[in-house]
Amino acid sequence: MEKWVGKVAVVTGASAGIGEAITKDFAKLGINVIGLARRSEKIEKFASSLGEVLGIVYAKACDVSDLKSVKETFKWIEETFGTVNILINNAGVGYGVKILDEGDDVTEKLTETIDTNFTGVINCTREAVRLMKLSGDYGMVININDICGHYLPSFEEESLNVYAPTKFALTALSEVLRRELIEQGNDLIRVSSINPGTVKTEDNDDQDIEELPHIKPEIISDGVQYLLKQPPNVNITQLTMRPVGEKF
Ligand SMILES: NC(=O)c1ccc[n+]([C@@H]2O[C@H](COP(=O)([O-])OP(=O)(O)OC[C@H]3O[C@@H](n4cnc5c(N)ncnc54)[C@H](OP(=O)(O)O)[C@@H]3O)[C@@H](O)[C@H]2O)c1
Repeated sequence: MEKWVGKVAVVTGASAGIGEAITKDFAKLGINVIGLARRSEKIEKFASSLGEVLGIVYAKACDVSDLKSVKETFKWIEETFGTVNILINNAGVGYGVKILDEGDDVTEKLTETIDTNFTGVINCTREAVRLMKLSGDYGMVININDICGHYLPSFEEESLNVYAPTKFALTALSEVLRRELIEQGNDLIRVSSINPGTVKTEDNDDQDIEELPHIKPEIISDGVQYLLKQPPNVNITQLTMRPVGEKF
């Protein structure tokens, strides 16, 4: 990991769950992290309790689904840090609704899911890759996808509504991005995805998750580090991390 020490990482959805775990581990490893979330005060809170760590955590309020918010955030990043070396597209939402449920509240949830999980990734990636290219340094984009981005597990009664389609789209987006970089002759920036199975986080804490095989967010952070540790000519494009015994 030495090559990333002192570099600049942006982690979206850093205020909870997997994003929080990645942010904390980066800081411990000496990577400077800009944590983005709507509730940036949550990032500030855990950052101040980290004690003596090698990297600095900066908390920045940003709604990844809002292009204006993303552009303002990356303008600030460019002016303050000059570049981005690592982007972790982690921010994501999922709601327990069905596409065919009626009501404006359902429409809003479906739209938010698409705007966050898919459009949000495009918004942040375009800005971050622009800065990576300016630096001429190595770069890494890691998308936190899902096993649901590759096949449809069947859950009794529960619909994967537009959540799974956004993650399928993310699978395609990752590969399209990798190919566009090759077409541009860029062999410094790599694109990878992690596909977690069930992870116990804020998002699913209210469910009977204790009864299901699950892994901790820190395990996904370990996966991120595994991807970053690879030699510059190795691009692990997909890493699936599931708890042992996961049935669906
Ligand atoms: N947990 C699992 O079992 C699991 C499994 C597979 C994949 N994943 C994926 O892993 C990622 C992280 O999930 P998690 O379980 O850690 O979720 P989580 O605990 O609910 O955290 C979600 C994070 O996303 C942020 N976020 C949501 N909407 C945002 C927006 N519009 N702009 C900026 N930040 C936003 C939240 O911050 P604010 O609310 O403060 O904005 C929060 O920090 C997601 O992409 C999810 O699909 C999770």
